[in-house]
Amino acid sequence: MEFGRKDHLVGLDIGSSCIKAADIQVSSKGKTLKTFGMTPVTPGAIVDGRIRDMPEVANTIRTLFNSLKIRKKNVAISTGGQTVVIKTINTVKVPAKYLQKTIVAEVDQYIPDDIESVNIDYQILGESEFSSEQMNVLVVAVKKDLVAQYMALTAMAGLRARTIDVDTFALHNIFETLPGLDSEDLTLLLDVGASKTSLNIVKNNISMMMQANGSGTFQIIEEIAARFETNFLTAEKILLNPVSDAPDPEIMTAILHQAAEIWCSEIGDAVHTFQGGTQDARITRIVVSGGGCFVQPFMDRLETQMGAGVSVIEPFAGLNLDEKTFFSADMSQVGPLASVALGLALRRVDDK
Ligand SMILES: Nc1ncnc2c1ncn2[C@@H]1O[C@H](COP(=O)(O)OP(=O)(O)OP(=O)(O)O)[C@@H](O)[C@H]1O
Ligand SMILES: [Mg+2]
Repeated sequence: MEFGRKDHLVGLDIGSSCIKAADIQVSSKGKTLKTFGMTPVTPGAIVDGRIRDMPEVANTIRTLFNSLKIRKKNVAISTGGQTVVIKTINTVKVPAKYLQKTIVAEVDQYIPDDIESVNIDYQILGESEFSSEQMNVLVVAVKKDLVAQYMALTAMAGLRARTIDVDTFALHNIFETLPGLDSEDLTLLLDVGASKTSLNIVKNNISMMMQANGSGTFQIIEEIAARFETNFLTAEKILLNPVSDAPDPEIMTAILHQAAEIWCSEIGDAVHTFQGGTQDARITRIVVSGGGCFVQPFMDRLETQMGAGVSVIEPFAGLNLDEKTFFSADMSQVGPLASVALGLALRRVDDK
């Protein structure tokens, strides 16, 4: 039997490298982190957002929940990267009852698959900057079979997925809790994971552009494995400890710089497209989460290229840490990987 608010969800971030779970209690005393934990995924069990080994991943999730003593069953999960299409469209204002139909007609051209095979969700962002007759709508399309797969996975782990979010929304949720924010700043939130990157440009608590792509640290690990002729796990160890483990430091530096260049170029393209359609769109701050934030050449290049202050997210900063919660790990190492799970843990069943 579950006690407490029945709309309460545990955040479950099913990353392709690492699964994270977070439980946050929201009360009059603020947002209190009850528990957080993470565990690695067997390499190859999740590829490009698709679950290749359901029993293995379900078992990893079950073991994580047991070790964290989480008894709640209702979870919020998310997806991202190339498994979703996220688009901001400009459309004429229509009465709410016609909106779904209008949006489906508008986004059809952007969906590589049959429109019938995707779930479409949307959020009205506000009036268009070009005309008072028009509005901007953020549209998210996720393949129905992918949703079914994630529902089946959570069920196999003994859980109930009550909401399937997009990583970019979760990122926004946790960003809003951070102290010392100037909401007037045009801020780029980035999550560079193992096999996907999420981008979210926010101002005044409103998301102005969201995008997702397939960049991530797996590209670096695969390159290390190829150049040093080694397997995936050894290659990941080299990424984590380049100074002690890389057979050739020069090659290692070249690999990191190459990844930095590719990632920054994709981010630059997305931001330029956004800036092309909006006046007064200079990004003044970039907040980075995900394992990619540990790749220093990437962070340095991002700062130079974008001419904006770049920082690593500190997602626990706006949360009360429960006295019983004990973190043996270094928070600065854990924090950037925790953002999406924490953002999902702030979701409520009836949120839109
Ligand atoms: N200190 C570090 N230095 C370099 N890389 C790191 C470091 N710590 C973690 N990583 C890498 O970051 C990746 C994990 O990042 P993250 O947890 O954000 O990915 P994920 O959420 O599992 O993936 P995705 O969201 O793309 O499915 C792993 O590939 C890991 O090797
Ligand atoms: Mg991730």
